[in-house]
Amino acid sequence: MPGPFHGSVLAMHLLVSAVDQAAKGGVTMPVPMDNPILQLRREHDEALAVLDRLEGALHDLAAPEALVAVQRAVEFLDEEVRAHNQREEESLFPALEVALPPPGPAAALRSEHREFSKLLSKLKFAISQIPFSPGTGEIGLAAVDLLRRHIRKENGIVFPMAQQLLSAEEMSQMKRKMEELIEDQEAAAATPWAV
Ligand SMILES: [Fe+2]
Ligand SMILES: [Fe+2]
Repeated sequence: MPGPFHGSVLAMHLLVSAVDQAAKGGVTMPVPMDNPILQLRREHDEALAVLDRLEGALHDLAAPEALVAVQRAVEFLDEEVRAHNQREEESLFPALEVALPPPGPAAALRSEHREFSKLLSKLKFAISQIPFSPGTGEIGLAAVDLLRRHIRKENGIVFPMAQQLLSAEEMSQMKRKMEELIEDQEAAAATPWAV
């Protein structure tokens, strides 16, 4: 039976190969419709569309429609993207951490989630005043840039790597965990007064 060293060499080989493929312009791998990774990718697509709208509004905060556009985008990031990040942290990352122990990519991704969360909190505060606080545009654009880079890394490197490293059983566990979390998050959103 191969020891842990063998496993880590194999994991590093897969990591290098995934990074290499991503650098060459994308990875094409068949993804079954019920694959949890595909679900996370779809959520990324929605987030990227919101980031485009937010960026446009931040570039022209004086426009009459900017206020509502920024508020809607921030609401989406605060609810949907925070929930998405939590699902990654509790389903995908633990599985990756088993396959690729520290210093694997999960620690850096968790740290980027924290950094994004801080920027988002600052942005929420900045837009809680009308007119928006000075510096709102810079804070918002920093959040847009950070999340875009993070999503690019997950789509281009981390997800292909997870698909190569995780077994069908680990994928099923991840899917079940994501479904559980979605149920909990939806229940919490429906009853915000319950702690
Ligand atoms: Fe993430
Ligand atoms: Fe993500």
